[in-house]
Amino acid sequence: MVEPATLPKGTRPGEARNELEAARTVREMFTRIAPRYDLLNHLLSAQMDRVWRARVARELKPILERPDALVLDLCCGTGDLAFSLASHAKAQILGADFSHTMLVRAQEKAAAANGAAPLNFLEADALHLPFVDGAFDLVTTAFGFRNLANYEDGLREILRVLKPGGTLAILEFAEPAPGALGDLYRFYFQKVLPKIGGFISGDREAYAYLPKSVARFFRPQELASLMERVGYGSVHYHLMTLGSIALHTGVRA
Ligand SMILES: C[S@@+](CC[C@H](N)C(=O)[O-])C[C@H]1O[C@@H](n2cnc3c(N)ncnc32)[C@H](O)[C@@H]1O
Repeated sequence: MVEPATLPKGTRPGEARNELEAARTVREMFTRIAPRYDLLNHLLSAQMDRVWRARVARELKPILERPDALVLDLCCGTGDLAFSLASHAKAQILGADFSHTMLVRAQEKAAAANGAAPLNFLEADALHLPFVDGAFDLVTTAFGFRNLANYEDGLREILRVLKPGGTLAILEFAEPAPGALGDLYRFYFQKVLPKIGGFISGDREAYAYLPKSVARFFRPQELASLMERVGYGSVHYHLMTLGSIALHTGVRA
């Protein structure tokens, strides 16, 4: 059992010394890589990112099919999870992110879909959400939660905006299990991916940050325990793709 005191409080990219600097560095980083973000996601994951997001949408289908449900996709970036959720949805979906440039890409994609999806986007900080208490039936976040400057504050803020009975779903990277395949994946993720990502995006720092931030992040059981400590009930997680991806869910009691 890991002591809470030894767990990471939040991300600390590069030289960031505190939460303010961490948040600023993360926002600037995603703003810089926004033009190549989608391309690199699909390329570096061999299109598996589409499969992971589709899996989240499938699991949450009972909520998404409700026309009265309000859904917040937090740290939505260029909107790929929000679009995936929307393909199953009668619910209203709102994507929120604190990088304006990522949101512009999301808006462009929504416009190209001719407003077919029940989707809107807005600029907001996940740690200070501009919503009243109990606003949402579902909050999702894909590959964004790990980038928060304070994880516990993030979970509390999400809990605040969830309705009683509302669900949180977090899709994140995890460290794959030991073994030959896991080791191969680790080699790819830590050594090869940063080089390809750095080369294509022109931003070596951003793609070096990715494996570092995953290594520093919670093990899946640690995140589940923190969710329970913060007040989520029915906390579950399951792993995908050699244990390299975790989907956590929890419910506001
Ligand atoms: C790796 S991207 C994930 C984007 C998208 N969810 C996806 O699945 O592709 C992480 C996103 O989280 C956003 N982000 C990080 N910290 C945030 C915060 N405190 N508030 C809002 N957005 C944040 C970044 O701007 C970035 O767009």
